[in-house]
Amino acid sequence: MSNDQLDQHAVDLDNLNEHREIVTFMRRSAPLNTSQRTALEQYGHLILEYPVGDLRQHFEHPERPLTVEIGFGMGRSLVLMAKANPERNFVGIEVHVPGIAQCVYEAGLAGLTNLRVLDADAIQVLREMPDNSINTVQLYFPDPWQKKRHFKRRFVSHDRMPLVEEKLEIGGTFHSATDWEPYAEWMIEVLEERPRLENLAGKGNSYPRPDWRPQTKFERRGIEAGHKINDFIFKKVN
Ligand SMILES: C[S@@+](CC[C@H](N)C(=O)[O-])C[C@H]1O[C@@H](n2cnc3c(N)ncnc32)[C@H](O)[C@@H]1O
Repeated sequence: MSNDQLDQHAVDLDNLNEHREIVTFMRRSAPLNTSQRTALEQYGHLILEYPVGDLRQHFEHPERPLTVEIGFGMGRSLVLMAKANPERNFVGIEVHVPGIAQCVYEAGLAGLTNLRVLDADAIQVLREMPDNSINTVQLYFPDPWQKKRHFKRRFVSHDRMPLVEEKLEIGGTFHSATDWEPYAEWMIEVLEERPRLENLAGKGNSYPRPDWRPQTKFERRGIEAGHKINDFIFKKVN
């Protein structure tokens, strides 16, 4: 499907589902390769079934700090982060099944015990979490929804951020990154208006790209297209 066809499809869906909640993603079917298909069976224990309740209870050490990544794509950077931080628990939420399969394939091969993934709308999953229960929420290269009529699908918004803030611990962080300059401007404007959040880079600034955030597939594509990368890290202060 071309981008225009996808856009039209999104509008059709909005019209069809006018009484349902607007979502931040579009499910696309794509075939699984052999290792992805095998991974779903072999490493199925890494996949949580929705509804999941409190994500922390699915780990051997539920008391450890929890990072939730929304929309991990193919999951390479999430696996690398989980590997580099064995003292934390990680949950990745995605709706793209080949990405989920690829992520569990790599996590399973690496023998990770501190990572779980699930196929669900992150908004629904967050709603099930107790308040003040997540240490870090990360959102890397979210769909920018470039057309004005699709802005309501952008994850970073005054409609969706209250839920993220509620579920973060005090002192916990929301970390987003984007290669789409207009979305970067939008993000900083929304996030700096949130009274419970503080910009760790100082007002009006993006955060210097942290070297502990591995490059993602969409980041690489953005760089190849000559786009500037902006990271934002906001701390929940109250
Ligand atoms: C542009 S891709 C970026 C993927 C990856 N983070 C990267 O940088 O390569 C955005 C991803 O977010 C996922 N997504 C968007 N909204 C979501 C939601 N509410 N819950 C779960 N996944 C979501 C989409 O399915 C898509 O795979």
